[in-house]
Amino acid sequence: MKDELRMLLRKLRESAKISVALAAKRAFVDERTWRSWETLKGAAYDRQPSEKALWSFFQRSGIEMPQEFKARADDKPLGKVLSIASYKGGVGKSPITINVAAQLAEQNFKVAIVTDDGVFRGMCNDGRGPAPGTQVSKIDFYDELDLITSQADLKKMKKEIRDNVTHLPIGEQQMGRFLYGHLIRAVERKALATERLSDLIIRYDYVFLDINVKTELIRRHADLVAIVLDSNCYYSIQSAEAFLAALRAIKCRKAAPAYFGLITNCDVGGVSRELQEFVGDLPGLSDEIREDLQQAKREHYLRRERLHQIIHALDLPMLTTEMTASHKIAIELYNESRDFLDGYCYFHSLIDVAPHSHAAGEVRRLTDELINCRM
Ligand SMILES: Nc1ncnc2c1ncn2[C@@H]1O[C@H](COP(=O)(O)OP(=O)(O)O)[C@@H](O)[C@H]1O
Ligand SMILES: [Mg+2]
Repeated sequence: MKDELRMLLRKLRESAKISVALAAKRAFVDERTWRSWETLKGAAYDRQPSEKALWSFFQRSGIEMPQEFKARADDKPLGKVLSIASYKGGVGKSPITINVAAQLAEQNFKVAIVTDDGVFRGMCNDGRGPAPGTQVSKIDFYDELDLITSQADLKKMKKEIRDNVTHLPIGEQQMGRFLYGHLIRAVERKALATERLSDLIIRYDYVFLDINVKTELIRRHADLVAIVLDSNCYYSIQSAEAFLAALRAIKCRKAAPAYFGLITNCDVGGVSRELQEFVGDLPGLSDEIREDLQQAKREHYLRRERLHQIIHALDLPMLTTEMTASHKIAIELYNESRDFLDGYCYFHSLIDVAPHSHAAGEVRRLTDELINCRM
């Protein structure tokens, strides 16, 4: 790389007040490597950034890439794969995924979500999608069934159909076909898929796997897996443990993803507020009832504490960013003035509908941690 480019790189970094450490992080390299790019070329010194690294640095710093660099790095994808995952449904896996993806779309990254979510499928069948002009509309959505993923998965599905439909006595096949219709349709749809998930990943900066049960697929493709732990739900913790064990048991040549726990529903104070107010001031409450309520409150606190302990005893590092229930307030406000069918749903993000809310701030912090610190 020419000295003028090295000087330009340094000038751009310094005028954007970005430290070497941060610049290195954004380019996915260590500090020494970054420094070497800014060092004017001595005879024995010609280290230069890869196209991917340069592209990543400029994109993530929100700096327009100057023409001189563009010649070296055309729109190169980063191709990082994340999965915000859990076995248990209803823990916020999809909404958190879409929020983080929307935040990255706002930062001009090319983002895709690969999903097997039922609500997504239902809405697509109804011809619904993201509202034009929103950050979510910049995300490309793919149904997992439209991609070639793993042959092992397909084989497993076909075997399930054979065992439960084709191999049944003729008289029972119709019932089997009814019960396993979703699987039969899935296999038919998979057979039409032409694009490999691995090729799709190359075309994007970030690909999210909003996938529920297919651990094989997550293990094979993800670089980072954040397992959702609802801090108010023991079963979500239990299922996270099972999920992690299943992922770790998969034998695969690709390096294992980095696993983290993502704690949600973490506003312990907020959750027990009503009970506290009730116990606090109600006049004329008998001592006995007051004591019962106090005891209930204590037990509630202790239960949350116990869950907290169980979470931190897991063999899994926790992300520092904890999610609260603040999304509920933002969503409630958004839904207030809308028809039921126009309410917050799969294709909405807090980045679009409540960009100044506490909940959107949480999403930004989570995105920042995932992208800048954990990958
Ligand atoms: N950050 C968040 N943004 C929006 N909704 C969230 C968030 N965290 C949790 N949720 C909750 O997730 C629920 C929907 O989860 P769902 O789509 O059923 O989850 P999953 O994809 O895990 O099955 C909603 O009721 C919503 O209240
Ligand atoms: Mg979902």
